[in-house]
Amino acid sequence: MAVERIHDVVILGTGLAGLRCALELSRADSGIDIAMISKVQIMRAHSGCAEGGTGAVLNEADGDSFELHGWDTVKGSDFLADQDVIQRFVECSPKEIYLLEHLGLPWSRQENGRIFQRPFGGHSYPRATMAADKTGFMEMQTLYDTLTRFANWTNYHECFATDIIVQDGEFRGLTFIDSRTGEFVIVRGKALLIATGGVGCLYGFTTYSQTVTGDGQAMAIRAGLPLEDPEFIQFHPTGLVPSGILMTEGCRGEGGYLRNSAGERFMDRYAKEKMELAPRDIVSRAETTEILEGRGFEGPEGLDYVHLDLTHLGAEKINKRLPLIREVTMKFLGLDPITTPIPVRAVSHYSMGGIETDINARTRCENIWAAGEVACASLHGANRLGTNSTAECLVFGAIAGDEILKYLKKKKKPADCPAQRVATIEKFLFDDLMQRNGGENPYHIRKELRVAMDRYAGVFRDRDEMNAGLRKVAELVERFEKITVEDRSRVYNSNFYNVLETRNMLLLAQVLLTGAVLREESRGAHSRRDYLRRDDVKWLKHTLVTLDDGGLKVEYKPVTLGKWEPVERKY
Ligand code: FUM
Repeated sequence: MAVERIHDVVILGTGLAGLRCALELSRADSGIDIAMISKVQIMRAHSGCAEGGTGAVLNEADGDSFELHGWDTVKGSDFLADQDVIQRFVECSPKEIYLLEHLGLPWSRQENGRIFQRPFGGHSYPRATMAADKTGFMEMQTLYDTLTRFANWTNYHECFATDIIVQDGEFRGLTFIDSRTGEFVIVRGKALLIATGGVGCLYGFTTYSQTVTGDGQAMAIRAGLPLEDPEFIQFHPTGLVPSGILMTEGCRGEGGYLRNSAGERFMDRYAKEKMELAPRDIVSRAETTEILEGRGFEGPEGLDYVHLDLTHLGAEKINKRLPLIREVTMKFLGLDPITTPIPVRAVSHYSMGGIETDINARTRCENIWAAGEVACASLHGANRLGTNSTAECLVFGAIAGDEILKYLKKKKKPADCPAQRVATIEKFLFDDLMQRNGGENPYHIRKELRVAMDRYAGVFRDRDEMNAGLRKVAELVERFEKITVEDRSRVYNSNFYNVLETRNMLLLAQVLLTGAVLREESRGAHSRRDYLRRDDVKWLKHTLVTLDDGGLKVEYKPVTLGKWEPVERKY
């Protein structure tokens, strides 16, 4: 029998977007009762791993402008982003930098004491606002530290959310398992924010923490909400081989080079002007091409690589601006980047798609909002620019907070939650799924899924490969029905959480591959060998995937254009 908890606002996910929303609510009215729910401890949220910077226009006097940031983002998106969303985003992000500044965040500084910004890929002005290469951690720390001054929120950390209950277009409740007690909990509230991050652990070689398994997206689609543009996955050009740990684009922003096995700076063949600071889709394709054409280095487990060369930057710059990069390469590979190039290759890093929202972070359900990587307000289109993600979390976390505040003024109490729905979920989880004993090992299924996604839905794609991927996922879904759950206890049952995550991942892999097979063009990060060109006549539109009678239904909706007309994308 589920335990019931009631709050005004339920925030699921405690990364940057979730914390920023909580702060917006708390600062406006410290009487709002907030539930903060996360499957990890707050400061373990994956936002803490963001390294390179947060994009914002701070230097208009020196030539930067909202116009320029907007244009860079539209062009970076391969014209799939919604231009009204971009306009609002670029205008809001500087305020977030100054807010964090006032809250005490130690931004990196120029000699004159002003905030320092470094260049980043696809941006035509240095606007990556940074705290060395630990930007996400500092942002998280600043927001969390500020939130601890308020007493209006309850911390449900290490709680695994299983389902979002929606009825008659309204949020009714969220169910979770409290790892510490083993209790099954239904939490009700007047409003829900989903801020659980991306889907990157669908891939084996990834920069994501192993916790980022797309639970928010999976719960949302099961609850009837559409997922938008799920086929667009970003591959970051510099994942450390073999672990996949992010080697920040800040390395190239500080002047680092990419070299092939002949020592050539190969980017001049692919993006003559921007070179290593071309957008990520272009650099990742360039690296992959170098490797496929035999100009890479042979790596372990098939992870061939190119070199990220920082040796010309000098010890002082590396120690000051890239200390984490040096620490990580020394600890993981025994390699000092001051003297030795770093082995890197393209790595799954970001989900451009997510739960469909409007420009106010609101989903199609009247009292559910989504912000940060889990959401798709259509800010990034087919390819995100570096630094626009942490900025997005801050901007849209704040917007969601403001919108929820307005909503709370008219919503007097949480809607009732149908007890029968909660009982059905509980029965499925504990009497069915947890009791399965069919012999299939869920860890093997998860591993095979991630290998398949690396292989069939990577930097380059084509129909036959993606269909092979879909067949493999279908096989894994069938095998998942016959899993054995070894651990049937209720407290800290990581075995069972792994099963729940894998169930979510299998669903999202089907969504991703389905959207990708149908999109017969190459745009941004979706690069098809069988459709080499962008096709604005047929495909300047967003994909929307919903669950319909247990199957996937795919529809499309138009892109919101504006002053920037789609043109050929050259760098
Ligand atoms: O390379 C990086 O530091 C990543 C930044 C981002 O994804 O925005």
